[in-house]
Amino acid sequence: MPDTTIAARVVRWQRTHGRHTLPWQNTRDPYRIWLSEVMLQQTQVATVLGYYERFLQRFPDVAALAAAPLDEVLALWSGLGYYSRARNLHRCAQAVVAEHGGRFPPDAATLATLPGIGRSTAAAIAAFAYGERAAILDGNVKRVLTRAIGFGGDLARPAEERALWRQAEALLPEQDIERYTQGLMDLGATVCLARRPQCLLCPLAEVCVARTEGAPERYPVKTRT
Ligand code: ADE
Repeated sequence: MPDTTIAARVVRWQRTHGRHTLPWQNTRDPYRIWLSEVMLQQTQVATVLGYYERFLQRFPDVAALAAAPLDEVLALWSGLGYYSRARNLHRCAQAVVAEHGGRFPPDAATLATLPGIGRSTAAAIAAFAYGERAAILDGNVKRVLTRAIGFGGDLARPAEERALWRQAEALLPEQDIERYTQGLMDLGATVCLARRPQCLLCPLAEVCVARTEGAPERYPVKTRT
C-alpha cells in the first residue's frame, strides 16, 4: 500500500520532480546552509547563486566572516537588498564565534536565538544540516500547507499563525525530513504558485482541500499587512 499522507506525497514528488543540484544542497555544513537560507529569505534562487559563490570564496567559514569588517560584508551583499540581512549575517557570525565556540548551535531552538535567524530559517538549517524534525513555515510553505489542509484562519492573527505552526509540526514525516523540507520549498516555488497554481502537476492534488473547493487562490487568508 502506498503511503498517501501529505508528507509521503511531498517526499516522493521531491525525488523525481524537485531541485537537486543547487549549490547549497548536498552539504551538511551549517555555515553554507545558513548563508544560503538567509540569502534566499527575500531573494530568488537565480539571483542568489552568484552572490553565494562570491561570499564563500571570500568567507569560506564562519570565522572568516566574523573577522571581516562590516563594510566588506555590505559591499559583497550590494545588490541583494534588505541590508539588515547583511548586518545580521555579520552579527550572527560574530555571535557564533564569541558565544558558541565557532560552531553553529546543533538544534533549531538555539539557532533561532541568533541574529537574523527566525523560527522558519532555524528549522530549515536544522533539518538540512542535522536532520532535525523541525517544521518550516515561510511564505511559500504557508501557501502550500494552507491550501492542502484548507486552513482558512487569518494569518494576520497571532493565534491563527500559531495554529498553522502546530499543523505544520503535525504533518512532519518520521523520516526523510531533509527531502520533505526541500520538497515543500520546491512545490511552493514551482507548482503551488500564488496565482495560477499548477494543480495538474501537484502531488497533493488528490487530497488538497483548496482544490476540492475550486479556488486554491483564496488561500492563504491574511487581512491587513
Ligand atoms: N528558498 C529558501 N530556502 C531554499 C532552499 N534551500 N532551496 C531553494 N529555495 C529556497
